[in-house]
Amino acid sequence: MELYLTLEKQLKKEPNYVTDNGELKKWVVINKAQNYDAELIGLLLDDKELKAKFFLEIKSVLVFNQSLFIQFLEQKNYLNDSYTSYKNKVGLNIDGKYLRQRNEVALVWPFKDCVLEGGQSREEDKREEIFFNETLAQDEITQLLEPKVLTNTKRYTAKGEKSLDKFNRNKEGIITDNLIIKGNNLLALHSLKKEFAGQVKLIYIDPPYNRDADAFYNDNFKNSTWLTFMKNRLEIAKELLSDEGFFFIQIDDYQLGYLKILCDEVFNRENAVNIIAVKMSEASGVKMAHVDKKLPKIKEFILSYRKSNTSRLNPIKIKKESQGNKLDAYLKYYKKVIENYNDPAENWIITSITDYLKKQGLETDDESVKKFQLENTERVVYRTNNKSFENLTVKGKIALVKSKQGLDYVWWEGKQMLFLADYIDEYICDFWTDISTINLNKEGGVDLANGKKPEKLLKRIIQLVTKEGDIVMDYHLGSGTTASVAHKMKRQFIGIEQLNYGENDSVERLKNVIKGDNSGISTEEDVQWKGGGEFVYLELKKYNQTFIEEIESAKDTKAVLKIWAEMKAKSFLNYNVDLQKQEEHIEEFKALPLAGQKQHLVELLDKNQLYVNLSSLNDKDFAVSTEEKKVTQDFYQLKK
Ligand SMILES: C[S@@+](CC[C@H](N)C(=O)[O-])C[C@H]1O[C@@H](n2cnc3c(N)ncnc32)[C@H](O)[C@@H]1O
Repeated sequence: MELYLTLEKQLKKEPNYVTDNGELKKWVVINKAQNYDAELIGLLLDDKELKAKFFLEIKSVLVFNQSLFIQFLEQKNYLNDSYTSYKNKVGLNIDGKYLRQRNEVALVWPFKDCVLEGGQSREEDKREEIFFNETLAQDEITQLLEPKVLTNTKRYTAKGEKSLDKFNRNKEGIITDNLIIKGNNLLALHSLKKEFAGQVKLIYIDPPYNRDADAFYNDNFKNSTWLTFMKNRLEIAKELLSDEGFFFIQIDDYQLGYLKILCDEVFNRENAVNIIAVKMSEASGVKMAHVDKKLPKIKEFILSYRKSNTSRLNPIKIKKESQGNKLDAYLKYYKKVIENYNDPAENWIITSITDYLKKQGLETDDESVKKFQLENTERVVYRTNNKSFENLTVKGKIALVKSKQGLDYVWWEGKQMLFLADYIDEYICDFWTDISTINLNKEGGVDLANGKKPEKLLKRIIQLVTKEGDIVMDYHLGSGTTASVAHKMKRQFIGIEQLNYGENDSVERLKNVIKGDNSGISTEEDVQWKGGGEFVYLELKKYNQTFIEEIESAKDTKAVLKIWAEMKAKSFLNYNVDLQKQEEHIEEFKALPLAGQKQHLVELLDKNQLYVNLSSLNDKDFAVSTEEKKVTQDFYQLKK
């Protein structure tokens, strides 16, 4: 076989490299080659001929001959598709290479190559964020992202709370319990990796929107900090998704542009599915006070990405009724009904709805007619003269006619038939205006001052991409909307949240749900939620992080000094901290302003020991309890 045929055959094994028409996406492959993509290189190595052609052996190490491979793919005679016409076009280039070909357009920001722990457990705390550089601080990052020891685990059932004996698992050994994890979401996601990589069907998140003037916790990250924060989490989220999985993320105008480019980079642009515009508030209230400066903002966006091109949506139909007041406008045309609808079409009789109702001895007022129309959408019709078929000759009473655009029309006794069902039940598109955002504070029996999402919204997303039993995840869980809806819809859920919202916490909400909460989507016909089920609560075991949190909430120097005494006895300090010197300079320390004292203490702490790593499970210094050991070992399936 000629080499290019071998290459094409091998590359087509990867669905992401193939268009819907079965052609090879050469630009995608070239981009991957330019980035030394491990999957692509692996695929080439799997074939003997390709391995020999595109790799050099140097001191028994195989080196990818990138330029040869790209040159080969770019050969004109090999490219019989759009590339050729592209290549013949005029375009911007540097050194003869088109900009697109150079793969040089990217969103770049300070700290892009860093990891941001971004931990915080109280709303009122502001902290100096620590960036670990991926190249310079590799060891720190490895330690930071290592799976963590679990603590404070509980199982909640409708009968109450009990201690966790062990996790439930399916035949493949994967945990089937619903989980609520309290703790830093980056670290929690990495702790879940071993158990759940490739298992999650849907991840929905509603992260901080990073709006400047917003008092909401941590919503005023600087842009580069926010992008780093998001990127670190998106990358691991992608690993958790199954091949058929989807990622949905909600955002408003302010960060939309930045987020879109970031997500394109992480998920690949070809996996972008939709940007849904969703109405999130009413045209009333404070926002209407400045209509002369700016149009009031009532919508947000939901970006969706698929993991690969094997992912499929479950199209949803809704009645136009719920799409506002277009309905009455349609109904006034549909005044006829087909009698004998279930007989062959030759036997149909078309009667006016009022005559039909009279015959049945039923009321014929406007309300009764409307009720009849809505209950019989598939046999209520409107007949029209369609000019484009003027010269049509049809044998018999009925025909299916194809238009120039390839659409099918039903033709009946010389006229086109329009069925109410086709107009009234419509597929949901990318513009959602029908979900109410009023009175959300009642849903689930818990409140969230800012950003609580309607259960109906989550129901639609969950319905769109999952089926019963699938795993749904949200790592900015907030008041627990995603988890509650997933549970009511019989999906397995994993929720992560680092703040403790007290009586409005997601744990309280899920407790209400298993006890039979009847708010939100509970009463919908296809849900009819009556309660039941259970979930497991767990935390990541903190170490130096506990000291950081104490320092952040200290009110005066006395409190700071007390923490310092505790730190000397129990914390892990940086290797170069000289305790004696610290004591010698204690008066200078006391003279610093409170913020300076706090900053100094935080700087002394070894940031590699914020949480207890799994590898320290048996290390006496961390004093992991027998109970914690047991649960941790069970979770990570470690031999005892
Ligand atoms: C708008 S709320 C999500 C609301 C949720 N969808 C609901 O319906 O209840 C955003 C969430 O992101 C979390 N968040 C904010 N800053 C964070 C940070 N630095 N790290 C992790 N989570 C953060 C907040 O705690 C909050 O729960």
